[in-house]
Amino acid sequence: MALRPILTYPDSVLKQRAAAVSCIGADVVRLIDDMTETMYAAPGVGLAATQVGVGQRVVVLDVHDEDESAGKRLLKLINPEIVEREGTIVWEEGCLSVPDLTAPVTRARRVLVRAWTPEEREIEVEGEELLAVALQHEIDHLDGKLFLDRLSRLKRDLYRARQRKLGRQGRKGTGGTRPVLI
Ligand code: NI
Repeated sequence: MALRPILTYPDSVLKQRAAAVSCIGADVVRLIDDMTETMYAAPGVGLAATQVGVGQRVVVLDVHDEDESAGKRLLKLINPEIVEREGTIVWEEGCLSVPDLTAPVTRARRVLVRAWTPEEREIEVEGEELLAVALQHEIDHLDGKLFLDRLSRLKRDLYRARQRKLGRQGRKGTGGTRPVLI
């Protein structure tokens, strides 16, 4: 296993739509192992292959530490697809690829996701609240979408302006209390 660098906004690779995995070979299994290690090291509760510069529809998630009711610990999902969504929830989201920003995002409160495992089993994952939010956030990454894209234009512009300013000053923003990064 190896850590992979996480791309951050405004890297254009984050805007690309990932392709479906057609064969679960050794390269995909290694990618998933690396992504798992990278996610835990970050630390974050989810990571999409897009975020490490690989255009394949693969995500890993583990929201257990933040929400013990979410059930199964580590999820490794290949070609995940939302087949049911229900209700709405507003969640304060942060993202490993969007440093120093959290913002409330409206999403479905419950989703049912169909996906493949590295063992080539087709599974269904039901998520509510944080797990539902994280599943939608990661699948957005695979579609080349950041949670920034779901904010109002004003909020997005403010964030861009602030990042430019921080870039000019050659320093990172201060984190404050650490949010859950998806
Ligand atoms: Ni993210």
